[in-house]
Amino acid sequence: MKGVILAGGKGTRLHPLTRITNKHLLPIYDRPMVTYAIEALVNAGVRDLMLVTGGTHAGEFFRLLGDGHQYGIERLFYAYQEREGGIAEALGLAERFVGDDLMVVMLADNVLERSIAPAVEAFEHQERGGRIVLSRVADPRHLRHLGVPELDGGGRVVRIVEKPQEPPSDFAVTGIYFYDASVFEVIPTLEPSGRGELEITDVNNWFIAQGTMEYDVLEGFWGDAGESIDAYYAVNDFVRRNGANR
Ligand code: G1P
Repeated sequence: MKGVILAGGKGTRLHPLTRITNKHLLPIYDRPMVTYAIEALVNAGVRDLMLVTGGTHAGEFFRLLGDGHQYGIERLFYAYQEREGGIAEALGLAERFVGDDLMVVMLADNVLERSIAPAVEAFEHQERGGRIVLSRVADPRHLRHLGVPELDGGGRVVRIVEKPQEPPSDFAVTGIYFYDASVFEVIPTLEPSGRGELEITDVNNWFIAQGTMEYDVLEGFWGDAGESIDAYYAVNDFVRRNGANR
């Protein structure tokens, strides 16, 4: 399985911090944010990685990661996103890297307490399609900034609503996504959303409509450190007290 780490975007919710660096290079406790996503993937046995970034601080990722060996990465590739085209557009840049392989995509501002190895293993046994990872989030104020799944009586995901005013469940869709190579046929068919981006939620809703989307529910802490400045500090506080990727 290939790993794709998405570390682009303007990080406007963390302005002005993100005027002087890429969001994913900001510190979480004692190291740059992106290293937590790398560690999550490497610890789950995913060691062929592509990092997609953009903007004016892309060179800093080389300085931090180099060839990746220090982080346990076997082969590290980089891609540069020319426009702010969204998460799904960024993923499209990994097409040649991934080829016909399965992939796990991780947003580099997501920080986890526990391992994602069980989800990786589950997807390896899944026949085809996609797989998302959900996290229970008690506070609806968070859910309004995230993707939220609507579940039917049997616990199947019916659809995902992006940044809903009225969250249809108390689960967040985390920034960890599994796809087979058919995702690269879906991305070119997407239309930009209201924020002018190709949305990963539209990709996920495509797999849901095909009936090939499965999910796992995470145990332990999950945080999107790019959600807001308060979320950024909540993630920092958690990691300082408890560590991550355990
Ligand atoms: C993105 C996704 C959203 C998901 C979140 C997780 O949001 O669009 O569905 O819940 O990542 O980190 P964004 O951070 O782009 O607002």
